[in-house]
Amino acid sequence: MHGADTDGRVVAAACTIAIDDLPDGLIVADRYGRVLAVNRAASRLTGVPMERAVGRDMNDVFPLRDHDGREWWKALDPEGGLRTRSRVPERPLHLPGGQELYVAARLVREPERGGDVERVAITLRDGGARARLERSRADLVSTVAHELRSPLTSVKGFTATLLAKWSRFTEEQKLVMLETVNNDADRVTRLITELLDVSRIESGRLEVRRQVVDIPARARRLVAGRVAAGEHEGRFRLVVGDDLPEMWLDQDKIDQILGNLVENAVRHGRGTVTIEIESVGWGVAVSVRDEGEGIEPELAPRVFRQFWRGNSRRRGGTGLGLFIVKGLVEAHGGTITVQRAPEGGAEFRFTLPTGTPDFAS
Ligand SMILES: Nc1ncnc2c1ncn2[C@@H]1O[C@H](COP(=O)(O)OP(=O)(O)O)[C@@H](O)[C@H]1O
Ligand SMILES: [Mg+2]
Repeated sequence: MHGADTDGRVVAAACTIAIDDLPDGLIVADRYGRVLAVNRAASRLTGVPMERAVGRDMNDVFPLRDHDGREWWKALDPEGGLRTRSRVPERPLHLPGGQELYVAARLVREPERGGDVERVAITLRDGGARARLERSRADLVSTVAHELRSPLTSVKGFTATLLAKWSRFTEEQKLVMLETVNNDADRVTRLITELLDVSRIESGRLEVRRQVVDIPARARRLVAGRVAAGEHEGRFRLVVGDDLPEMWLDQDKIDQILGNLVENAVRHGRGTVTIEIESVGWGVAVSVRDEGEGIEPELAPRVFRQFWRGNSRRRGGTGLGLFIVKGLVEAHGGTITVQRAPEGGAEFRFTLPTGTPDFAS
């Protein structure tokens, strides 16, 4: 930070170091707008070197303006206004040709209440990062709205048609329409359940309740469920290694991870689905692979993103499954990767550390 002595005040050296460590920009000016001090982040955000700013006028070195082009410092008018005013709320401002900055200020008075303004402390934050975050939120909202609308449009369309022309359809036609309505309603429910998981993952509110989990038994149960629901038993192969350590995990979440990966292998892949569980010493590794098209290596980093569905939009998924799987694996302290299976399809492999009961969160 560069500081100037003024009115006998000296900016202390220890403070200077700490102020330069701040992630946000800081500018201190006197009541007339003369710049007293500038920290490193402020210089980086504004592109004005510290030594060029100190001692000069705010209006010359930092001509911040709002979206209507008004000069912020003039509008601030530290000398005028109510004597009780001390906080200037944050707002988005620009420097000429510069990116957006979020600027807030504090009027430092002597005495503190009702005195003259001695200094103005101004903080600057990068508006770009926040704008990007807001844009990605806006994108998420519009994607979610879109995803909810298509099944609801079909529910509304079929029910309206059935209500208006019930007697004109055959039993079979009515059955087909009601099945579609039923499936689309399920889809909305699934989407909302998954969105709640996504929100828990993103806000770090995911709770892991650990107990001893027998992963091979969970995999066997999962396969048995799918076979009971009509899938061919020969489609699944379970390979279990020796000496699996005792695993302290959240059983529901392990079921959810395995369920999602097997569902993907069946729906997006082809051929035999192999679930292989092996010890890696400090934990276990589970691979789920199939013999389908697989995933192009250059697309691999994208499969774990929200709503990414590659070219399988028509297959009815939400594109949230793998994002949730990754979040659940990571909540257990594990990692997940995707690669090409030896048989040619996709191979998802996750590793989980054994965990301990007291590690429970
Ligand atoms: N076993 C697999 N084989 C080929 N592609 C897959 C496989 N698993 C996932 N994918 C691709 O990754 C995308 C994202 O998967 P996921 O997040 O589970 O969403 P969803 O299954 O709802 O489409 C899928 O749409 C599909 O394109
Ligand atoms: Mg899926």
